[in-house]
Amino acid sequence: MGGYRAGKVNQPSVRDATGFALQQGYVVVVAGSRGSDSKVTTPSGEIYTGRAPAGLVDLKAAIRYLRHNAEVLPGNIERIITDGTSAGGAMSALLGSTGNHPVYEPYLRELGATPERDDIFAAVCFCPITDLDYANMAYEWLYNRTNRGVRDLTADEMAVSDQLAALYPFYLNGLELEKPDGTLLTDKNYLDYVTGFLIDSAQKGLDAGMEMPTNASLLFNERGDLVLDIEIDRYLAYVAGRQKLKAPPAFDSFGVLTSRPSPENSLFGDETGNAVNFTDYSLQKRTEDATAMIDDKLREMVRMMNPMNFIDDPQATKTSHWYIRHGAADRDTGFHVSVNLYTKLINRGYDVNYELAWDKGHTGDYDLDELFDWIDKIVQQAE
Ligand code: DHB
Repeated sequence: MGGYRAGKVNQPSVRDATGFALQQGYVVVVAGSRGSDSKVTTPSGEIYTGRAPAGLVDLKAAIRYLRHNAEVLPGNIERIITDGTSAGGAMSALLGSTGNHPVYEPYLRELGATPERDDIFAAVCFCPITDLDYANMAYEWLYNRTNRGVRDLTADEMAVSDQLAALYPFYLNGLELEKPDGTLLTDKNYLDYVTGFLIDSAQKGLDAGMEMPTNASLLFNERGDLVLDIEIDRYLAYVAGRQKLKAPPAFDSFGVLTSRPSPENSLFGDETGNAVNFTDYSLQKRTEDATAMIDDKLREMVRMMNPMNFIDDPQATKTSHWYIRHGAADRDTGFHVSVNLYTKLINRGYDVNYELAWDKGHTGDYDLDELFDWIDKIVQQAE
């Protein structure tokens, strides 16, 4: 599912969660799924078959198929755990948040999926690229702080970054998220909240004996065994120094028709294989038409691909158990996108094991001992 492209049916590898799970005696299913590059050749030309929501409904169809065949399969069908990284992490989060939701039913029926439930037991999500509706704003709200001196932006890009950053608080505040102690999160205290996760992450790295970078603005106590603070602007510059930041808009590129479209522009294109803008902001900017709006069908498709939109939806069966990891040096989306997902889930009472993983970039399936301890625990608790 890398970059929202088709998911290949790879051999389990000893180095990833599939091979590890097999060694631990779990039943592993690697389901293929269509993605933005899937196409078939017909007499009248190529047809792209994997645009949204195809990848997600294929995975749901696989879960339904397993459930339908539960009697002849080993393992407990009520203990399905999904695992994915990046676009795959987003898919895992969607599977965890949209179980049995009728909005996907027409697509499932169209592809001939078995009429069964598709909710799951637990979702493991590494660096999920989610909240695409607001991800451009989110990215600039965080990384705009590094624009001067760190990010090599044109004056136009700088202006776009400023505009997008200014739009984010309206969305963020509307989420009405709360800290575990009940404090309301707003754009005023939110950066400190996010920084707290980075401090916890650095502390865990330090406790594990990792060598700490000298240019990440970590403030230690005198003995050097406690991370007291992180100066967030300099920390973000450190992240940007490891891998160049995305140019604004980070997800909904103005280059849909010309240069390189983003993976998300392709995800939301149609069977012609085009790439499209999927936010009003980028559409308006690109077309220089301040009244342009994406069409309702596309807006609904973007909504359907965002787990944040289903957590409060009573028609969706949510998994109770979540394991979410996001690299503390990952610049593919803002840290706070997964912080939001975590916070919304815990605010609604779900069991979420969430951390920013120290020193990790945009990657997944790490710390497998830790992950499988968690899996063993939730499985045993459910017995
Ligand atoms: C992936 C990475 C991205 O930065 C993105 O925008 C979408 C998908 C990926 O690695 O799957």
